[in-house]
Amino acid sequence: MNAKFIITTTVLLIATISVNDIFIVTNIFSPPSIAGSYDKLQACKIINVTGAMGPESVAFDPNGEGPYTGVADGRILKWQGHESGWTEFAVTTSHREDCVRPLAPEMEHVCGRPLGIKFDRKTGDLYIADAYFGFQVVGPEGGLATQLLTEAEGQPFRFTNDLDVDEHEGVVYFTDSSTTFQRRHFMSAAFGGDKTGRLMKYNKSTKQVEVLLREIALANGVALSTDRSFVLVAETIRRRILRFWLRGPNAGKFDVFAEVPGFPDNIRRNSKGEFWVALHSKSGFISKLLTSNYSWIGKSVLKLPLSFKKLHSLFVGGKPHATAIKFSEEGEVLQVLEDSEGKTLRFISEVEEKDGKLWMGSVMMPFIGVCNL
Ligand SMILES: *[C@@H]1O[C@H](CO)[C@@H](O)[C@H](O)[C@H]1NC(C)=O
Ligand SMILES: *[C@@H]1O[C@H](CO)[C@@H](O)[C@H](O)[C@H]1NC(C)=O
Ligand SMILES: *[C@@H]1O[C@H](CO)[C@@H](O)[C@H](O)[C@H]1NC(C)=O
Repeated sequence: MNAKFIITTTVLLIATISVNDIFIVTNIFSPPSIAGSYDKLQACKIINVTGAMGPESVAFDPNGEGPYTGVADGRILKWQGHESGWTEFAVTTSHREDCVRPLAPEMEHVCGRPLGIKFDRKTGDLYIADAYFGFQVVGPEGGLATQLLTEAEGQPFRFTNDLDVDEHEGVVYFTDSSTTFQRRHFMSAAFGGDKTGRLMKYNKSTKQVEVLLREIALANGVALSTDRSFVLVAETIRRRILRFWLRGPNAGKFDVFAEVPGFPDNIRRNSKGEFWVALHSKSGFISKLLTSNYSWIGKSVLKLPLSFKKLHSLFVGGKPHATAIKFSEEGEVLQVLEDSEGKTLRFISEVEEKDGKLWMGSVMMPFIGVCNL
């Protein structure tokens, strides 16, 4: 054992064993407050995904029906209104005999875990980033999805995460969060300093894939700009949104579009060309330390006998909450909406704006949030 390991272990063991007590005594561990934020998400309504868990992404089809959402048992469900409720739309694998529990992380690699979903508005096809079964597509009638890609440049996808569709050019942009860690081992990717995330471009006519960006510290949400001059990608662990230029003088280069006060998940564009970023959680002192460039700190914590729940609690600052940030096309913060006490919404994964309402998914909740703007 080296000295670094002993110091970290001691400090963090004390912090984690009594993690909840410490939160009461001091708030340096807690999620920070954001100046100018509006604490209104607790007034949102919820729609239970009955019998399911973790609706991550929310998408409406070209007829405006839905939303559709992928849940933790591997299904993609369609909301048919309060009378009919949720119906099964698609699955990402046919081996579903044992996929009956709403939440079974140890079964995810068998049942699939559809994360980002988005419709092609021209064809009505639904593109799916399944964390375990790669990049897929299913027709407007649903059913069993077709696997399009499971690797790029000879490197298999381990954690396909989100996508956006450019109907005009016939291409789809998507992310793989890590070539090392699967979704089930999310905390290891977060605290272990993993930087193997990639942003890809899939050409529908050639069926070829091209890697646009590499070495992303957990590549997550993807969103194209209205004029298709750039594509945004969330770099979750470095708490920022990268902008990859597709056109113009900087084509092929990237820059930082925005820094965010927490861990960004999906990004969705609204009809005005603005972007909603959902934060899995805000980031306080401890989570910044554990995900910093000094990855030996995070790695030391991973060696401690801590449950996923404890590790996740360190990651999110011990207190459930929800944060959504709206950015202009230029990257200025336009609005920050929160449920700072997690009264209604917690750990949101996506914000989809439609007809004056915000629809919100969450990997950790059994419902979708619906909020009036
Ligand atoms: C959602 O489910 C919870 C737990 O089963 C229940 O208490 C609540 O009333 C349901 N809410 C709605 C809006 O259906
Ligand atoms: C997709 O591939 C076709 C055929 O090679 C090419 O003409 C087209 O420019 C490609 N599209 C993009 C956006 O790269
Ligand atoms: C961490 O590393 C990244 C990439 O090497 C660098 O851009 C960033 O400035 C570093 N952050 C700190 C706090 O040193």
